[in-house]
Amino acid sequence: MAKRIEFSATGGPEVLRYCEFTPADPTADEVQVENKAIGINYIDTYIRSGLYPPANLPSGLGTEAAGIVTKVGADVTSIKVGDRVVYAQSASGAYSKVHNIQENKLAVLPDAISFEQAAASFLKGLTVYYLFHQTHKIQAGKTLLFHAAAGGVGLIACQWAKALGAKLIGTVGSDEKANLAKAAGAWQTINYNRENIVERVLDITDGEKVDVVYDSVGQATWLDSLDCLKPRGLMVSFGNASGPVTGVNLGILNQKGSLFLTRPSLFGYITTHEELNEASKVLFDFIASGKINVDVPESQKFPLREAIRAHRTLESRATHGSSLLIP
Ligand SMILES: NC(=O)c1ccc[n+]([C@@H]2O[C@H](COP(=O)([O-])OP(=O)(O)OC[C@H]3O[C@@H](n4cnc5c(N)ncnc54)[C@H](OP(=O)(O)O)[C@@H]3O)[C@@H](O)[C@H]2O)c1
Repeated sequence: MAKRIEFSATGGPEVLRYCEFTPADPTADEVQVENKAIGINYIDTYIRSGLYPPANLPSGLGTEAAGIVTKVGADVTSIKVGDRVVYAQSASGAYSKVHNIQENKLAVLPDAISFEQAAASFLKGLTVYYLFHQTHKIQAGKTLLFHAAAGGVGLIACQWAKALGAKLIGTVGSDEKANLAKAAGAWQTINYNRENIVERVLDITDGEKVDVVYDSVGQATWLDSLDCLKPRGLMVSFGNASGPVTGVNLGILNQKGSLFLTRPSLFGYITTHEELNEASKVLFDFIASGKINVDVPESQKFPLREAIRAHRTLESRATHGSSLLIP
């Protein structure tokens, strides 16, 4: 028997239950991992709330964790019992002491990276990788706008942009978060709770605006984001923290300057083991070399049984950087 988080109906954080379950043996192409640290991602709240409805109920939750391999399926060749691994794209159910994952979704952890660092950074860091290297190739000296810059994805993005020599303008919800984003490498910050995003971007860029906006806030920032783009700029809408963007009239892209728009996801970019290995290597090198710090404050490490409190804290915008569940 082992413990995990389950929910039988979608809704607020209170639907989450800490349950006992009997882990199944891994199938031929799966590996069983004893999780040591579990990543909490905003997408987990969309699945729990029903914004992205789970395939079946009751359901487990979470897709990211780091730990030690305890069993391997008959056809597994690249991983062995005892390996230290991390994963971000498992079937729902990583909020658990034990989880089975397909071999091709796992990366072996370098010794220099702890389980907590790995679980705090894998999904979010792979996301920044594809956003900055594939969705749009961020060049040194270029200016970009990145919303929620002190969040989990956001603080990694600030450090990554700095490492690339790019000028990241980060929006944040408080002055404390502005300081954190700046310390992580943001070039400029905008507190969108008291400043006008478009006016500040015009001011900061001497009226030029930016080539690309990365917007994971969604509904609340959608129109401002379009107004911050240069003609033919790229709007990357990659999340819904304030609610989803719906009912868009395509003509708005014409009116705002022949803009490009994409709505990408990690699962559309990291699709093979080779792509996972390539992206992981870049991320692990950044972390091991100290260019990207993903240490999690003690106050944001929650015992697994306190997943309800963890989700409440994340959704109340009280966190900065990543948060973890510890089984
Ligand atoms: N498409 C993809 O591939 C992909 C992959 C990973 C993550 N994401 C998205 O990236 C975003 C960040 O994920 P994360 O896990 O790192 O979370 P996070 O950024 O740590 O937390 C979300 C942040 O969004 C901001 N926010 C703005 N309006 C909000 C509202 N109405 N309610 C709650 N928060 C609000 C808050 O920062 P302030 O207080 O500074 O406003 C909050 O801290 C999420 O939207 C997530 O879905 C997308």
